[in-house]
Amino acid sequence: MPQSITLTVNGRPYSLEVQPSTSLLDALRSLSFFSVKRGCDSGDCGICTVLVDGQPMRSCRLKAADMEGRAIVTLEGLAPRGTLHPLQQAFMEVGASQCGFCTPGQIMTAKALLDRNPHPSEEEIRAALNGVLCRCTGYAKIVNAVQRAAELLDDPQQARPFEPVFTVFTPDQDPKPVVDAYRRATASWRPRPPLVLAPPDLSPTHEVGRPRPKVDAAKLVQGRPVFAVDMRREGMLYAALLTSPHAHARIKRIDTSRAEALPGVHAVLTYRDLPRVKFASGGQSYPNPKPYDQVVLDWKVRHVGDRVAVVAAESPDIARRALRLIDVEYEVLPHVLDPLEAMQPGAPVIHDEEDTTDLYDRQRNIVHHIEAQVGDPDAAWAEADVVFEREYRTSQQQHVNLEPHAVLTYWDEDDRLVVVTSTQVPFHIRRMLAGIVGLPEKRIRVVKPRVGGGFGNKQELVVEDLAAWLTIKTGRPVYLEYTRYQEFVSSRSRHPHIMRYKAGVTRDGRLVALELHLVTDAGAYGTHSLTVPMVAGLKSLSLYNAPYTRFVCDSVYTNKPTPGAMRGYGATEAFFGLESLMSEIAAEMGWDPLEFRRQNWVQVGERVRIARELGEGPTGHEQVVQSSGLDACVRLGAAAVEWHAKRGNERWHRVPGKPHLRRGIGMSVAMHGSGVAGLDMAAAFLKMNDDGSFNLLVGASDIGTGADTVLAQIAAEVLGVTADDIIVYSGDTDFTPFDKGSYASSTTYISGNAVRKAAQAVAQQIRERAAQMLGVDDPQAMVLREGRVFAPDGRAVSLREVALHSLHQHDQRQIMASASHMSPTSPPPFAAQFVEVTVDIETGQITVDRVVMVLDAGRVINPLAAAGQAEGGIQMALGYAHTEEMVYDERGKMVNARPGPYYTYRAADMPEIEVIFVQTEEPTGPFGAKSVAEIVVDGIAPALADAVYDATGVRLRSIPLTPERVWRALQRAAPVA
Ligand code: FES
Repeated sequence: MPQSITLTVNGRPYSLEVQPSTSLLDALRSLSFFSVKRGCDSGDCGICTVLVDGQPMRSCRLKAADMEGRAIVTLEGLAPRGTLHPLQQAFMEVGASQCGFCTPGQIMTAKALLDRNPHPSEEEIRAALNGVLCRCTGYAKIVNAVQRAAELLDDPQQARPFEPVFTVFTPDQDPKPVVDAYRRATASWRPRPPLVLAPPDLSPTHEVGRPRPKVDAAKLVQGRPVFAVDMRREGMLYAALLTSPHAHARIKRIDTSRAEALPGVHAVLTYRDLPRVKFASGGQSYPNPKPYDQVVLDWKVRHVGDRVAVVAAESPDIARRALRLIDVEYEVLPHVLDPLEAMQPGAPVIHDEEDTTDLYDRQRNIVHHIEAQVGDPDAAWAEADVVFEREYRTSQQQHVNLEPHAVLTYWDEDDRLVVVTSTQVPFHIRRMLAGIVGLPEKRIRVVKPRVGGGFGNKQELVVEDLAAWLTIKTGRPVYLEYTRYQEFVSSRSRHPHIMRYKAGVTRDGRLVALELHLVTDAGAYGTHSLTVPMVAGLKSLSLYNAPYTRFVCDSVYTNKPTPGAMRGYGATEAFFGLESLMSEIAAEMGWDPLEFRRQNWVQVGERVRIARELGEGPTGHEQVVQSSGLDACVRLGAAAVEWHAKRGNERWHRVPGKPHLRRGIGMSVAMHGSGVAGLDMAAAFLKMNDDGSFNLLVGASDIGTGADTVLAQIAAEVLGVTADDIIVYSGDTDFTPFDKGSYASSTTYISGNAVRKAAQAVAQQIRERAAQMLGVDDPQAMVLREGRVFAPDGRAVSLREVALHSLHQHDQRQIMASASHMSPTSPPPFAAQFVEVTVDIETGQITVDRVVMVLDAGRVINPLAAAGQAEGGIQMALGYAHTEEMVYDERGKMVNARPGPYYTYRAADMPEIEVIFVQTEEPTGPFGAKSVAEIVVDGIAPALADAVYDATGVRLRSIPLTPERVWRALQRAAPVA
């Protein structure tokens, strides 16, 4: 029975009818308080936190019916419209909102904290925020924002600015004094702002390199309805997806009649209702890599969580009830969860349907077999004095993007299908969807609003086809949002890898041979199962560029939920094995692990041998390293952690008074890429407005990374203005030019170069117009600076004057330009990471005490955004290394599909973090920039395992390093002294 309640929200009374089951979250969103976000519906993530009578509470766990007479405050009520509360201001200034999806929950929790404790310590802030998950920031800037807000509330005049430290650094300089000076300068901040080092000859810039707040920060800190989950449409139906309870089964019979008869249900779709169009769901460039082993709805299910049927109804509640009325009879088939077993003769054949083709070996479930080799193996193995062979294993990690997959589809007034979706790849979605629903691309518009985190999970067609078909069948707008359970088992994840490395070294420390034999678990469908392992081979085998390298891979189907693209994209997995091996070799040969690596890592000017044979894009591209700060990264990191004083130091290993604890320190290095060489293309369009501002239209997708801000800064740098004068609109297939999307660490490098080119073309038009206005013969002599155009004699016109002259007064024309960019090369960023741990040798519990990450990402366009990427990457990588693993029972059902049992690092778990940028100037990058988004997750796992080895003497070759896994390894080994 519905119930009438009256409650106060943000100081205003509301009366509404609610069902007994209606949550406060749903009630608030029905009243258009869209800052209240749904992350899990189980109380695990905390992002739905609001204040109830002044107390922070999870609105998903409260019944609206119990709120009679209560006073609720949401983020919308924190400050009058047009003003910002100091918490909102601080979140904006320090860069604490990346995707911004968790921001309302963080701010409301912090508000309650500051109300009761105006001067909290770092520990108190972390404790208060511990119940609110963030997947982007590593919590560093969120803690900083709360600290700054406390100061702003005290006395805005006395509040300390939060700024990176910029220092000139020469490659041969002693790094210790530099690090010491940085620490003195940032002594009052915990966590510290980043240290940004520049070589003395780095070319000067005025806008690039500034720690600007993100261009979308204001709307994010105010909780504006900017995400796909906030979109509504008159007459909208709600969709819900029925998923498989079985790991492998045939649908013998499916009866939807009772669901269809339920009042309020408009459509129930099964495989019988749709054409059987085969596709691959990965959002990749045309043509999508094969096999095309999926259809929208199938008569067979291949993992628990696979699609069975989809419903559209008048309300979410009716849609869910309809799902329960669908009667499915399954013929349960034998299943297989282990890729090595799946390759054995007699294993269940997962794709036995005839219309899936292009499989390497159907009977053995091998989707792809890949081989690549350079150099002379006989000569290399003959030269090697010692050969090492080791096997390493990595687990299935899930993205836990806090905004779930969400899509709204509708017909517009021209009978074109509009798809508003939380995606990293709007243009790929349009092209793929066109084939699936049988419409030409010109009748589909894909719009990307703000994206609440993607990390690769939204580089995929996951929900768009379902909603599109429901709109086509019903003629109505349809909204589909995944549940958190579906995010775990019905979206995508990271491929588990089994890696056997074989390396040959000489006694004088040269790595002369390196082989990687990889078995990757492709799960139920082969999306990304060609390119993820190719990147694993390419990136890991490139770092040491041994004279002989060989890569062999089998991608193998299992009946597990499907892996796909995930931040790091194979490299993260491969570096765990590679860098663990390098540490093992150094230890066993008695070599300094830093020197051994330095002796072998790829140098500037070196051709990357395997790059011609292996890659995500077309092969045959020559890759020559043109910039590297890796040596400086390692020297700085070693100085920052006092590596030589601690590593192997028995006294330091001991924790006084705690004989069960051991300290350890470990390290690794890594390299990544910047876009896919020879394949990725991005375009940009720029036009000038009357007031001298500019509209920048890009197809790139800012998924919380700060891409829109970085691209605005690049355009502003060329045009002699600030990013405030650049209005960015991104990711709309009707209104922005093509961009392949946000993945492969390509946005700053590829899209940034397109923006730079378009801005240069606009700048030239401005110079010509200004020269004409001032009677200067040579337009090239005109200089754009501070919103004006200067002639050599010092006279100047403003950009507003130029725009008005061009649009209204003489020889009228629109100043505008477009450009596109494709790169034949993919310059590698580099990283060195150092990790300190304390291991409880009685329980196997690891505490990560400290992480120092030193990065060469080329020129840093925005140090706050880049540091945020690093800090968030560290959090994600620590989870991968330590706590995160999708665990299944013997029937293939994931047993920890909640963000609690599936444990991601929380605010109080995070170690002390320092992020240092060693800037280089990549000649092919926009203003020398390379990428930063993925390199930051590549090296933490091997550094952590190395630190555990330093602490205990035990090597662990499988991650995550859970207490049980560590404890068992310690039990197997000799007792730790
Ligand atoms: Fe916290 Fe994205 S900013 S989840």
